[in-house]
Amino acid sequence: MGKRNKVITYGTYDLLHQGHVNLLRRAKELGDYLIVGVTSDSFDLERGKLNVRNNVLERVEAVRRTGYADEIIIEDYVGQKIDDIQRYDVDIFAIGSDWEGKFDYLNEFCRVVYLPRTEGISSTMLRSESQPVHRLGIIGTGRIAQRFVPESRFVSGVELTAVLNPCPEEARAFADRNGIAASHASFESFVGDVDAVYISSPHLTHYEYAKRALCAGKHVLCEIPMVLSKAEAEELYALAEAKGLVLLEASKTAFCPAFNHLVALVKSGVIGEVVDVRASLSKLVSGRLRELDTMQAGGCMTELSPLPLLAIVKLLGKEYSSLGFYSKMESGVDVFTKGIINYPHAVSTITLGLGVKTEGNLVVSGTKGYVYVPAPWWKTDFFEVRYEDQNRNRKYFYAYEGEGLRYELQEFISMIVSGRTSSHRLRRSESILIAEIIEKYLEKESLTLI
Ligand code: CTP
Repeated sequence: MGKRNKVITYGTYDLLHQGHVNLLRRAKELGDYLIVGVTSDSFDLERGKLNVRNNVLERVEAVRRTGYADEIIIEDYVGQKIDDIQRYDVDIFAIGSDWEGKFDYLNEFCRVVYLPRTEGISSTMLRSESQPVHRLGIIGTGRIAQRFVPESRFVSGVELTAVLNPCPEEARAFADRNGIAASHASFESFVGDVDAVYISSPHLTHYEYAKRALCAGKHVLCEIPMVLSKAEAEELYALAEAKGLVLLEASKTAFCPAFNHLVALVKSGVIGEVVDVRASLSKLVSGRLRELDTMQAGGCMTELSPLPLLAIVKLLGKEYSSLGFYSKMESGVDVFTKGIINYPHAVSTITLGLGVKTEGNLVVSGTKGYVYVPAPWWKTDFFEVRYEDQNRNRKYFYAYEGEGLRYELQEFISMIVSGRTSSHRLRRSESILIAEIIEKYLEKESLTLI
């Protein structure tokens, strides 16, 4: 028997359709053994493909059922195609003509064939047909709202349809600038235009807006800090639950791929038992800004603590034993705060600065090694696991696309579509705990001024 003619092809194969089936048939006809590489979920995320519906097991199963694949492998990293072609001794690399020219570099390793693509169908098309577009309204027109608009375009199944600002001119200007159809100065008229809201107004307005939106039957994605007290957080989540609505705190780091992997690695014991977490975040500001305004809940703790607290709560859990805070105050707001959150078998610190600059990194120390995430750790795209024996150190690189707000929006929409009211990336109990710690700080009982 002569050598088999091996063909390899790759794809996501989400919502398997006739185009995929035709392509696999044509690829198989090129030889007598077909290997199909199906992208892993994390590889798709890393490539910015955030909307894939079927998980990798479902996609592999769908490819298997076509009957054309002799072998199915998982594609998990950039550059893997070259490795696979050599490892499996592949003769032909085949891919749809939409990729014409893009894989010519593989000619060095095997024959590259671009097969005719089936017109008029794609996973993207099926995803948008089967998913109603959710009308999202933005409350607030400040800096974060402005950053959110372009980010939302990377998430399918959502359209920004309205904006609310009590000042009609500002609402209109924001809508015009960003191509949003409707602008409103009144909540009642605004809420009629949307299915869900994104709250990015000043901190002290979050609770009221979230409550009103939930009462009006709208899903809510709320900027950090969602609220500044445990009772308010509990009340809002209970209200959302009772109404069957999604309420998600937009703690962006919680939803980005690298941070999720970091948490999973630490939980699986790669640095042993976690004994110390140190998370810092500083942003030097001056002038008449909300961040420094006592009347708008300014100060480091309200402004900067939610992300460092997220890291601590994710890594050490919710059962802390005591809290201590040290702050430098200026004109009534904390411009520097160090917080110590003790656990029965671990300790953690947050170091925050609005008027003090410090290195914004994250260090997670364990009994076997530590994880180092350089500044700005909250936009996680890289971290390193380090050991006494430096030869064992490992660096992990990820994409952190744009401003990173697309990840939280993606999770929010996915929760709405699938009817999930809770996200394992940021549990409601974790969000409540973060509000509780901020509240304890504001009560000043464990505060020492420096
Ligand atoms: N393909 C095809 N005809 C189509 C759609 C896809 O021949 N109408 C081919 C692609 O060229 C590729 C393989 O099917 O070789 C897997 O593609 P994949 O990216 O999974 O499918 P798409 O439907 O193009 O997905 P998306 O819309 O998410 O990009």
